[in-house]
Amino acid sequence: MKFLEENTGEKLLDICLGSEVFEMTPWSWQMMWQLTPVEFSEAEYPRIEYHRRQQFWDPIRLALFTLAIAAIIGIAIGIVTHFVVEDDKSFYYLASFKVSNIKYKENYAVRSSREFTERSHQIERMMSKIFRRPSGGGRFVKSHVIKISPDEKGVNVLMVLMFRYPSTDSAERIKKKIERILYQSLKIKQLPLTIYKSSFSLTPINSKKMRDLLNNRCGIRMTSSNMPLPASSSMERIVNGRETAMEGEWPWQASLQLIGSGHQCGASLISNTWLLTAAHCFRKNKNSSQWIATFGTTITPPAVRRRVGKIILHEEYHKITNENDIALAQLTTRVEFSNIVQRVCLPDSYIKLPPKTSVFVTGFGSIVDDGPTQNKLRQARVETISTDVCNRKDVYDGLITPGMLCAGFMEGKIDACKGDSGGPLVYDNHDIWYIVGIVSWGQSCALPKKPGVYTRVATYRDWIASKTGI
Ligand code: ARG
Repeated sequence: MKFLEENTGEKLLDICLGSEVFEMTPWSWQMMWQLTPVEFSEAEYPRIEYHRRQQFWDPIRLALFTLAIAAIIGIAIGIVTHFVVEDDKSFYYLASFKVSNIKYKENYAVRSSREFTERSHQIERMMSKIFRRPSGGGRFVKSHVIKISPDEKGVNVLMVLMFRYPSTDSAERIKKKIERILYQSLKIKQLPLTIYKSSFSLTPINSKKMRDLLNNRCGIRMTSSNMPLPASSSMERIVNGRETAMEGEWPWQASLQLIGSGHQCGASLISNTWLLTAAHCFRKNKNSSQWIATFGTTITPPAVRRRVGKIILHEEYHKITNENDIALAQLTTRVEFSNIVQRVCLPDSYIKLPPKTSVFVTGFGSIVDDGPTQNKLRQARVETISTDVCNRKDVYDGLITPGMLCAGFMEGKIDACKGDSGGPLVYDNHDIWYIVGIVSWGQSCALPKKPGVYTRVATYRDWIASKTGI
């Protein structure tokens, strides 16, 4: 597809130009004017028919005919180009506007707060409503609120808008189209928010700027061409599960390795330097200088590699009961965020997942109990299970404490396994991913009535903040 995008546009242009040059050479015009009628005798009858036919093709007719053919070929090529060749390009804009019917709250300044999250989702939903409609041209891809700041008339919103338009379109022309659609919607649609038309400004930005702006936000996944990744729908388990399809699908996943002994545990990036993982990963060895962390979808070769400078275990981690199985590891040098390495969002304590919520677990762990580490990252979709059910006599018989979270299936089959420990259990909230669990323990792997048990991250939100300032 990349090849097509890069080359087809140019080739088609060649063909169009080629046919025009052929039809319109001065030489062919000259030839046409030379075909003037001549006088003839009866004896020359056979030549008369010939000349009549020649007269039919007089210069004007010939020219019109040629033009008509050229037009038909041109239109045909245009139609084929439009439907067959996808040479659409992404266009990014920074939008800023005032909303009068939102009262500013202090927590809008805190990106992980419930207030910011809910407000930005409301604004993003409204943008899809405006642009994702038949007259919107179906060109809208996505929007992300970057900032909500106070304004004397309400709040000021800064957001990124992404569109796909044919690569031949210009950023300025598209800008006009976007403004027209927006202004129309403000007039005719009943929108939940009152936007001042005069306050609306739109600036075209390039993909680097767009990424820099979005890097301010956690939990966003993107492909290498800067398109948002579609929601994952894999049903398989890590035990026999599927390998991750794309680089950048789980960009916060890290592999924690002991120098000389390789992969030990998973971990999740929560800032440029901090990894969140399980305390039990460091039972054998707490010496940070012996540990490294790698990023990317394969252990070898890794996309990025860093040394670990500091390890912080939860003070009340109990190896017998597995309580407070949470730890932090700090990298000696920071990692820069990209499409391949990105941080996951930390849930605020307000996040409550009802039973049977879809969540994803990822890791390089074994695919059978006691099997070897996998070089390629794997993923599995599992469902949350209520603590009441998980504590039943026939399940874990009261071993689940408030700091733990069960996820998997009562019939077994899909689960994390050995070597996945410390890795993330994530939840997709409007395309923003939150780490809700840390792989902690389980009885064997994927057994019926023995789901995976995870550290409930929301319970430790304040502990994480107290150690890292995040
Ligand atoms: N404790 C294991 C490890 O060290 C992970 C256990 C997860 N087990 C499960 N059935 N979900 O890698």
